[in-house]
Amino acid sequence: MDKHHYYRDTWAEIDLDKISQNIKSFKTHLPEQKIMAVVKANGYGHGALQVAEEALRSGAEFLAVALLDEGLALRKQGITAPILVMNRVRPEYASLAAENEISLTVFQKEWLTEAHSYVKETKYQIKIHLKIDTGMGRVGFREESELLEAARLINQSQAFKAEGVFTHFATADEWESELFEQQRKKFIEYIDLLKSWGLNPPLVHSANSAAALRKVEGPFNLVRLGISMYGLAPSNELKQDLPFPLEEAFSLHSRLIHVKKLMPGDTVSYGATYTATKEEWVGTLPIGYADGWQRRLSPGASVLIKGERMPIIGRICMDQCMVRLPKRIDVGELATLIGSQQAEKIEMDEIARIAETINYEIPCLISARVPRVYTKKGRILENMNVILNF
Ligand SMILES: Cc1ncc(COP(=O)(O)O)c(C=O)c1O
Repeated sequence: MDKHHYYRDTWAEIDLDKISQNIKSFKTHLPEQKIMAVVKANGYGHGALQVAEEALRSGAEFLAVALLDEGLALRKQGITAPILVMNRVRPEYASLAAENEISLTVFQKEWLTEAHSYVKETKYQIKIHLKIDTGMGRVGFREESELLEAARLINQSQAFKAEGVFTHFATADEWESELFEQQRKKFIEYIDLLKSWGLNPPLVHSANSAAALRKVEGPFNLVRLGISMYGLAPSNELKQDLPFPLEEAFSLHSRLIHVKKLMPGDTVSYGATYTATKEEWVGTLPIGYADGWQRRLSPGASVLIKGERMPIIGRICMDQCMVRLPKRIDVGELATLIGSQQAEKIEMDEIARIAETINYEIPCLISARVPRVYTKKGRILENMNVILNF
């Protein structure tokens, strides 16, 4: 069976030209910075491999993932660019990472001691990015004494190569944030400390999308771009004042699989929460919460059919949901759940608002059951159907 084919009437479309455009806009916005494309979580649901390839073609030089598994998957698929794993990887897997040229994030001195005992025999060096916790409160060195100990261990051993040092901001997506400024200053102090101990990692990075959009001052030479590369704003606050337009790459589509007329008093879906008040046309779409089209999106969300907004009615089921139509429409008609039709647009942010979450979560949750279709210059390049990918 062909993993590139799919047989259902629901799919996500990823416009790779938009990814490319967003990277190029950043290159102009921050000409001095190298770009690390963050493709963890299957490229925020867009497809890690395809996004990575497009980002690298468009000027990114590094990739970041959360898990060693994600990095290994990219290597297996032929990606040769540098990859950083940003979460903790167990020290016993350090040599596996090294053999695959995958850089690891380190924020515990014990990690170095343990990893050292596992890699003594390997001919590969473990590439390390030291993570400093300047205020995010998640992972990272906090104590100067522990960082000094770590710096010593790295300096003493041929097994380690300090490739980078980084931190992560907690509030870069808020214009007025004291914490952001505190973190920035603290990070610079730590870089100076490392220098004074003889450790000068060539890559120094702090910025996520929000910090890269607003530009963060300091001796930094790389930005880690996630959400904005996909064309989504890191927050509603920053969205009001972007330095250049972001182009949304992800859209979601389905087709009517059934159309019927309801009589007044007829009800729709589980719990019979929707009752027709007059004669109404109702269509069924083959997408539900198992596809990541969350149950909480109804009532509230609409879809676009023939360029018009139509509300989702009744409860969203596991595999299907219903839409009120203004008139009879043919089975097979295109419905856009995220994206544009004619003059109408449903943005990712609209869906996030209805689901009471942030835009990041929406494409991440569109499940593996939904095939991804990749386009460039309006033409289909590739289909990826993960459930046939065995
Ligand atoms: C350490 C780190 N850097 C960078 C990013 C990318 O952030 P964004 O998607 O806001 O650009 C993330 C994502 O959560 C992250 O955890």
